[in-house]
Amino acid sequence: MKNWVEWHIAYDDPESGLTRRLAHVRRRVLEAVERVPSGEIRLISMCAGQGLDVAGALSGFARSADVVGRLVELDPANVTAARERLSGYRIEVVEGDASLTSAYFPADVVLACGVFGNVSDEDIHRTVSVLPSLCREGATVVWTRHHEPPDLTPTIRAWFAEAGFEELGFDTEPGYSYSVGTHRLVGKPLPYRDDVKMFDFVGKPFDGRRTPRS
Ligand SMILES: C[S@@+](CC[C@H](N)C(=O)[O-])C[C@H]1O[C@@H](n2cnc3c(N)ncnc32)[C@H](O)[C@@H]1O
Repeated sequence: MKNWVEWHIAYDDPESGLTRRLAHVRRRVLEAVERVPSGEIRLISMCAGQGLDVAGALSGFARSADVVGRLVELDPANVTAARERLSGYRIEVVEGDASLTSAYFPADVVLACGVFGNVSDEDIHRTVSVLPSLCREGATVVWTRHHEPPDLTPTIRAWFAEAGFEELGFDTEPGYSYSVGTHRLVGKPLPYRDDVKMFDFVGKPFDGRRTPRS
């Protein structure tokens, strides 16, 4: 696996861990947008890849015209694919660095999928503690992480609780190493601050068909 474009090929295989994970992410994102009261729904996605999760969720959402979104992705080919997939929605796909808060606006739905398996434990903690500043009141965060040993997901879930979130779901599947966490902000959002660095993305692409990580 050479790059983050090829990494997405595993989504073509219906039995891959990535495809099975995607079904949970789409369902959780759809539930999250459905929870937002009438009016504009703001959505952001970090390290958004080709945007399959957001596109899949919005295709089943009656109020998709209310969704104003921003996806942030570094790889130009993935950005092009996401833009094509999401054309027709009020979603912009920004080619840029997802690690800085200045890339975003506070949102009702925040995706951090394929991020926590590719950054240090310390950066996961920092990102979770910064997330309330990227959330509007009652926002939902959908995130992923593998649970291979040493399994960090119990610690990540505790960090979400510390940061003022309640857990709405934690999806796993026997025989697969993915987890999809869904957390809702119950505390007050923190004030949005520009230019806060959340993480260094240190992961390398792998074959998602065999080892569904992150
Ligand atoms: C594991 S993939 C996840 C893609 C997508 N979120 C998904 O779950 O299908 C990680 C993505 O992060 C992108 N990426 C890596 N470093 C980044 C950065 N600093 N800013 C934005 N995107 C980045 C890669 O190009 C890749 O598409």
